[in-house]
Amino acid sequence: MPPRIIGKIDLRDYNLTRDIEHLNSVTKQPEEYDEFGQGHWKNLSIYNASGDASDTQYRSTDHCLPTEHALACLHLREFIHTHFKFDNLQMVRARSLVDGLVIPHRDFVELGQKTKYFRVFVALEDNDESFHSDEHGVFQMRAGEVWYLDAGISHAAVNFGLHSRMFLCLDFMFEDAFVDTDIFGAQAAIDFDCHTTYIERQPLHTTHVSEIISATSKIINRHTFKDIVFALSKYHFIYDLPVSSCYDWIISAARQADNLEIIDKAVGLRRYLIEQRDIGQRYAINDWNA
Ligand SMILES: [Fe+2]
Repeated sequence: MPPRIIGKIDLRDYNLTRDIEHLNSVTKQPEEYDEFGQGHWKNLSIYNASGDASDTQYRSTDHCLPTEHALACLHLREFIHTHFKFDNLQMVRARSLVDGLVIPHRDFVELGQKTKYFRVFVALEDNDESFHSDEHGVFQMRAGEVWYLDAGISHAAVNFGLHSRMFLCLDFMFEDAFVDTDIFGAQAAIDFDCHTTYIERQPLHTTHVSEIISATSKIINRHTFKDIVFALSKYHFIYDLPVSSCYDWIISAARQADNLEIIDKAVGLRRYLIEQRDIGQRYAINDWNA
């Protein structure tokens, strides 16, 4: 499903500066999927199933408890409680991405489609160098905008700059049919006059694509593989390309190089991140002994 702005909340009613500073100051803990991010990528559990801030993995729950980060961020907590309903809320995370990238992937691949997962993002601040992408295009989220993102399709995120980019990620789960506005609390003040727009990207000629693949085939090996994944993942933010084209390019480059090890590694990466994986399955980009 395409991304859409569900509504906009006026953040001027909340003094979030100190809370954002606090969240930026929290030391990053190791996380499940760290190796698929580059730069400063931080996920902080604000509300989750256990109330334990070190519990960062998404899972279903019928009670969403505040962690120490929620307790330390008075205004952010008030913002969440005022505008969002807790009935179907599973988890709230603060997500920071600075000078970094999260490579194209799909979430919930291992969880199946029986239940209706609904993920929204709220940008807590503007950042002109920060972009999101999915199978429908590239877009920017402005402060206060509440965006629905389909985490079940391929998506990625980047911040090309050094400035803070703090977002909230709220995961809801519904057993039955629902509408977007079911996530909002009774006291919520939402501006629904919003229009979803995409960033215009430059065309990239097929000849240029062939040259990139050919050049990649000459430098790709187990020592450069990870860097190449990150470098080629950035192309679709600038040029009009499918979000996960980087994986197809790398597989083509590995085939041109006739490097079986890299072909296997790249096919495995694409399968794990965007095609199919099992619960608990792990894939290590830089483990060449598996
Ligand atoms: Fe994701």
